[in-house]
Amino acid sequence: MTDAEFVTNGFHHVTMVSRDASRTLPFYRDLLGFPLVKQTVNFDLPETYHLYFGVDGGHPGTILTFFEWPHAGRGRYGVGGVHHVALGVADEAQQLKWKRRLTDAGVPVSGPYDRGWFTSIYFADPDGQILEIATEGPGFATDEPIEALGQRIIVPDPGRLKGGRDEASIQAASHPEPVPEIDDAMRLRGIHHVTGMTDDIGAADDFYNRALGMRLVKKSVNQDDPDTPHWFWANYDGARVLPASDMTLFGWPKNAPRAREGTGQTHHVAFRANDEEHLAAWREHLLAQGIDVTDIRDRNYFKSIYFRSPDGLLHEIATDVPGFAVDEDADRLGESLRLPSWLEPRRTEIASALKPLG
Ligand SMILES: [Fe+2]
Ligand SMILES: [Fe+2]
Repeated sequence: MTDAEFVTNGFHHVTMVSRDASRTLPFYRDLLGFPLVKQTVNFDLPETYHLYFGVDGGHPGTILTFFEWPHAGRGRYGVGGVHHVALGVADEAQQLKWKRRLTDAGVPVSGPYDRGWFTSIYFADPDGQILEIATEGPGFATDEPIEALGQRIIVPDPGRLKGGRDEASIQAASHPEPVPEIDDAMRLRGIHHVTGMTDDIGAADDFYNRALGMRLVKKSVNQDDPDTPHWFWANYDGARVLPASDMTLFGWPKNAPRAREGTGQTHHVAFRANDEEHLAAWREHLLAQGIDVTDIRDRNYFKSIYFRSPDGLLHEIATDVPGFAVDEDADRLGESLRLPSWLEPRRTEIASALKPLG
């Protein structure tokens, strides 16, 4: 394979940690409108749930998954962890409907903040995982030429920065009517970007470039903490930025606190491979880059390899195939507990240890 083929096709899924799957399910399925596409268990800890949500039958790039860790402590974002996961929405009008819908459901929302390249609102799931809903546009070419993204530091307009923006009118903005139903126009489109923290942004740049073929598409500052850098990488060829491929990092100082694994934290961020042959080639590529990577693991719905960023963030590359219809009807995804063949003999024991999802 050529180097050009070792440019990631973007996100496959993001896996987060929940304390109680019966609380996570209604939040993502009913409030956010993400269909449940698989009810299964953590293959490495089969007495606990692994829930998968996703759009269009769980299309790669739209998949959010949750390990249920009933006895874990609360996680914390920090260096080597994820600060937030952003989900895409069409535009600002649809975004305001989400603000109204979430606020009416008792979920505090901040924003909409004009980030320049998109507009953002923020809230948290029942475990404290920070989520964002970000508009598709206007995109990274709004303040520098599309053929030269990420080459110089972009300093945002002071009116966009904390301290310079009109917080009162931002907080007051909302949709005028209640939003009890999610219509097609407002539907969330999957992973828009994922933002983590590094204490060595130069090493992170080298890593995302060498490991995943990602290129800088924006070098700016954290608009909520303007003394610190905020860099964005993506599958970018000089003419376009591939949607659902944007990994971003806040650059924190060397002595900043590290992330702590636990509920309300992202466990890992997975990128795509086409199939097992492609995955094996990715594995060889990572090894050739000196990156420690696991053997290929069978996750039933995809095959996976795992490796870590220099800050310690766990990454995965997962195949697009076979997908979630491999063990149940495509039109009944998520309706019943599915187990991989090697756990099927223990179904009664496993099912009785799980708390009903309600
Ligand atoms: Fe995963
Ligand atoms: Fe963000």
